[in-house]
Amino acid sequence: MNVHVVVLAAGKGTRMKSARSKVLHRVAGQPMIEHVLATAAGLAPKSTTVVVGHQADALVAALMGFPGLTFVVQEPQLGTAHALLTTESALRGQTGTLILLSGDVPLLSAKTLQNLVDRHTSARAAATVVTALVDAPQGYGRIVRGSTESGEQIARIVEERDASPAERQIREINSGIYAFSLDGLFDAVRSIAAENAQKEYYLPDLVQIYRRQGLVVETVTVSNPDEIRGINSRIELAAVSRIVRDQKNAELMAAGVTIEDPATAYVDRGVTIGADTILHPGVSLEGRTTIGAGCEIHTGVRIVNSQLGDRVQVFNHCVITDATIADDVNVGPFAHLRNQADVRAHARVGNFVELKKTVLGTGSKAMHLAYLGDAIIGGKVNIGAGTITCNYDGVNKNTTVIEDGAFVGSDSQLIAPVTIGTGAYVGSGTTIREDVPAGALAISAGKQRNIEGWVADKKKKK
Ligand code: UD1
Ligand code: CA
Repeated sequence: MNVHVVVLAAGKGTRMKSARSKVLHRVAGQPMIEHVLATAAGLAPKSTTVVVGHQADALVAALMGFPGLTFVVQEPQLGTAHALLTTESALRGQTGTLILLSGDVPLLSAKTLQNLVDRHTSARAAATVVTALVDAPQGYGRIVRGSTESGEQIARIVEERDASPAERQIREINSGIYAFSLDGLFDAVRSIAAENAQKEYYLPDLVQIYRRQGLVVETVTVSNPDEIRGINSRIELAAVSRIVRDQKNAELMAAGVTIEDPATAYVDRGVTIGADTILHPGVSLEGRTTIGAGCEIHTGVRIVNSQLGDRVQVFNHCVITDATIADDVNVGPFAHLRNQADVRAHARVGNFVELKKTVLGTGSKAMHLAYLGDAIIGGKVNIGAGTITCNYDGVNKNTTVIEDGAFVGSDSQLIAPVTIGTGAYVGSGTTIREDVPAGALAISAGKQRNIEGWVADKKKKK
């Protein structure tokens, strides 16, 4: 079947009071337009055209990762009908069905979209409108139906600002999502006038134009009105995000994850979590994060684009980004793992420890106050409190290698590039500038000197 998708995203989004394009504001961690594009991709359309205008460059740049998009620029932005018209040359010669989506309606399900296509084609309609019955229709276009012998057919759509008091009572709303037959579509859209309160070219006016021509206009009414919630303000942004979060949390709980307080669990859509993992209140799990089974993630933890194995304990207030953590590892409290930190099985990372681009080998421990950057640390290594890998010489980042079974005493500085050999010891307070051979003890501090009576002498002199 010939399906073409157009996504409208040129509007200013005045009600957001934002310098940024409205459709780039994030719903549950992901720009709202990406939710729309992901759903549209489910239709396997022949083309997907995004109408951009306000903040066009930023929007195009943000969508670079999406394959197969065509962008058209609408400048100035004179309304939704005008926006659709800008796609005419991109769609010239195409036939079949055009699915029109709004970049600010992110919750539409793939199922509803397929329903729309099916209903539109089987009814041989010129246009099909997705509608919903809602308790609070304020702000939406209302569906005005007129009686015909075949029932209460849609006659036209009236915007809130242009509606009479009686029309404002109508609870059936326009989602802003439509299917159109491409045959004659652009000529019909061109005939839309801007005779309304906003002096804009309104796409919903096409319904009345088609009905007057005796063409078939169908409706598909969604059973869950949340699906077609539009986002025009920050309050609506928060409300829609909440819906996405709740859905995700419900799926996770159904799959065996304990969420102690779903109201404060922020789990992005792309995150996976194994059964019997427990999320304490106030955790953020973001991006492409995967968490294994039987883990426990304590309050105040933020994990971004990271992979955790099974039975991992993450204690309070850790920040973990772009890291890999194997099975049976304990992390935190107050640890910072970032940029390819790679913690192997049974290792332990304690409080106030930062790992950057560092492998911490199997069963190794860094329990207190350490910076381990650009280091390759073997198995069963002990890193004492206050250890610092001095990885940066002002020009280059250098590597520290600490081999299996080594013991690094507290308050040591390892000036990279440097290697601590297998089983070697570094005495507390040592500054390591040269490699330590396997099995050796390295100490750099001078002999301690005690000056008897020094304190009393000093006080006397005052
Ligand atoms: C629109 C519909 C309304 C419907 C509601 C559903 C119109 C006139 N009204 O109202 O019936 O109930 O959506 O959410 O269509 N856009 C452009 N170029 C423009 C204007 C808008 O690309 O010149 C884009 C916006 O970026 C947005 C979408 O079209 O993604 C809808 O525009 P918006 O101004 O939000 O329309 P609503 O007032 O919400
Ligand atoms: Ca809108």
